[in-house]
Order: sequence, then structure tokens, then C-alpha cells
Amino acid sequence: MISRRLLLAACCAGFVGAVRAQAPDPLADRFGGPFSLTSQNGRRVTDRDFPGRFLLIYFGYTHCPDVCPVDLLVMSQALEKLGSEAERIQPLFITVDPERDTPSVVGDYVSSFSPRLLGLTGSSVEIDAAVRAYKVHRVKYIPANDPQNYGIDHSSLNYLMGLDGKFRTLIPHNTPPERMAAIIASYLAKE
Ligand code: NI
Repeated sequence: MISRRLLLAACCAGFVGAVRAQAPDPLADRFGGPFSLTSQNGRRVTDRDFPGRFLLIYFGYTHCPDVCPVDLLVMSQALEKLGSEAERIQPLFITVDPERDTPSVVGDYVSSFSPRLLGLTGSSVEIDAAVRAYKVHRVKYIPANDPQNYGIDHSSLNYLMGLDGKFRTLIPHNTPPERMAAIIASYLAKE
């Protein structure tokens, strides 16, 4: 599990990398990897199923009280700002809460943000593997008086993966939609 400090450093490095975009990103092989999950439509989906497209991946959960709704709204606004270029990107929402987030729950949730966004869930083993590969910070908080109503503290980052399926950059929480669109556009222009 990656520490918060390292994640923060990773954010900044990715962010600066997006602005300067000259030197190879030293984080290039540190995030990402194969995954095999279930889509909101009940279909099996892997990281290899989107040839010719960038992936923009966000990890969260549908019961998230505040962070996920804000980040997914920003993501959908950034995609709108990219216009037709956004068709080169497949945005994915991967739940960190497979226990509650069934395919239909995830589907209802993502459709409220963007018709482009595809929601993914899976078994706890499959989700654990994806969380590990992307080094997602995830801690479950279980209230003693209401164990069913647990929360999950999680990192709130957008991962941009290039046409080769490899990591390009992280776009952190609180990035304005215009800025996010500009960062993504800078990577689209290079591939
Ligand atoms: Ni969240």
C-alpha cells in the first residue's frame, strides 16, 4: 500500500509532468496493470478491451458522501470541454466497494454523471487486484453502532493511461475541469 505522502508526491510529479512533458515520467511503470472486472452491463471487461483509446480511470464508491460526486462531476465536465476529442478516451469508474456496488448499482450511479462513463465492479479478489495495481489508498471505516453503514476513505485521483495501456499521469482532486481538460489534451496531442 502506498503512503499518502508518496501519493501526494506522485500527484505533484504527474501534474508537473503534464505541464512540462519533456522528460520521461519516472512514475511511468508504477501505476496500472491488467484488470478483469464486470461492467455495469454485466459483461466481463479487461484493460485490453479498449484498443486505440486512452483510459481515464477513477476509483471510488457509490455511497461516497462527498469526494466521488465532486470528482466525477469534474471529470464529466472536463470530457465535455474536450468535445469530439473525448471520443478518444474511455472513462472508467472502478468501485472500491464491491460488497455494495453491484453492476446495476454502479450503472445507475455513473449514468447520473456522464453517458460516456463506464462503471466497473467485480469480486473482492478482482477489485483488490486492481486496487493494488493502481496503488489506490483504501481504508474501510465501520461505525460500531451501524456496521452496515460503513465508509471507505480512498485516494481521489484520475489515472490517465495511454494508447499502449501504460500510465501517463495522475490528475488530482480539486483540479478544475478546464485544467483537467488541458492536461488530457496535452497527452492526446502526443499520441
Ligand atoms: Ni469517494
